[in-house]
Amino acid sequence: MTSLPPSESSTSQELILQGAQLLREGKLVVFPTETVYGLGADASNPDAIAHLYQAKGRPNDHPVIVHIGDLEVLHQWAVNIPLIAYSLAEAFWPGPMTLILPKASHVPLAVTGGQDTVGIRMPAHPVAMDLLQAFGGGIAAPSANRFGRLSPTRVEDLDPKLLAQVGAVLDGGPCQVGIESTIIDCSRITPSNPAPVILRPGMILQPEIEELLGMCIHTRESEETVSHTRVSGDLPSHYAPLTPLELIDSEQFPQHVITLLNEEQALGVLAFSPLASNELPANCHWVLAPEEPKPYAQTLYKALQYLDTRSCDRIVVERPPQSPEWAGVNDRLTRAAAEKGEH
Ligand code: TXA
Ligand code: MG
Repeated sequence: MTSLPPSESSTSQELILQGAQLLREGKLVVFPTETVYGLGADASNPDAIAHLYQAKGRPNDHPVIVHIGDLEVLHQWAVNIPLIAYSLAEAFWPGPMTLILPKASHVPLAVTGGQDTVGIRMPAHPVAMDLLQAFGGGIAAPSANRFGRLSPTRVEDLDPKLLAQVGAVLDGGPCQVGIESTIIDCSRITPSNPAPVILRPGMILQPEIEELLGMCIHTRESEETVSHTRVSGDLPSHYAPLTPLELIDSEQFPQHVITLLNEEQALGVLAFSPLASNELPANCHWVLAPEEPKPYAQTLYKALQYLDTRSCDRIVVERPPQSPEWAGVNDRLTRAAAEKGEH
């Protein structure tokens, strides 16, 4: 495995070409996107996709997103593309949005988890764009974590078991968005049902999408018809640290933490304010969370990864506000807090 060094050098054409060549050979390449790191494989090579599923430890009926470098090639991957999808793509690509569309016939079922739809995204990170350009095809890429675990937003957070399976890692520094793309299902749009559905909230927000399209749109919670679609983010305990995590409302938060500390529990804490008493016990790791949703999302997985490796009995997180700007963050925290037994 080659580990390619960060920033200026990672964008050097030689390293990008090396990554593209490995993809052509059916190998896996970890690359940065603006959301999280992706584990990339040639989307038109079923053997490479099989390797990708095995490296990730992912059940093979869960679809992966195809990353493209140019809107011009969208029609090579999807058919019956509604105008709404083009409006979304023009407004938000390259960027943290994935569109679900009816798949073109040649798209391997291995990519779509056996479904008749495909997820497509054009990422905004310059290294991802250069890699797509050099490769020339679509890159299938789930987040570069083992199935069910936290998505990596820094090369330091990549799992050694996963790294052992990849041909190269392109280091693009810390991801700027920090949580996975907003997924919008445009595959079921009809004249009588013209609105797309948000399957996974992210940092492209519902009000922004509604304003662009001039219509109210649904989220997965309010939409029963999409319940057949397999979205691995659907699983309650997705995006989870290994340490049990609790999400606690702000009003109860200070007292809850004090109770746990009095019980001498080893605690990891992600909170909007510091501990009221000035002494932090040695068995308590306290991460102060940014108050704005963008920097919070940007650092969320890094914070959880840090707390998860402190040997704590549990991680307690102060629940963020419930407004639309926090929808993506709240979705990931709720899943991280879900019982592992429901997996
Ligand atoms: O920001 C992102 O989307 C990152 C970066 C690497 O692009 N990728 C990512 O991939 O989060 P992954 O595989 O970890 O999550 C993709 C989600 C999964 O929940 C998957 O089930 C869903 O997208 N998905 C993919 N294709 C789909 C389809 N055809 N129908 C419904 N859901 C789909
Ligand atoms: Mg993922």
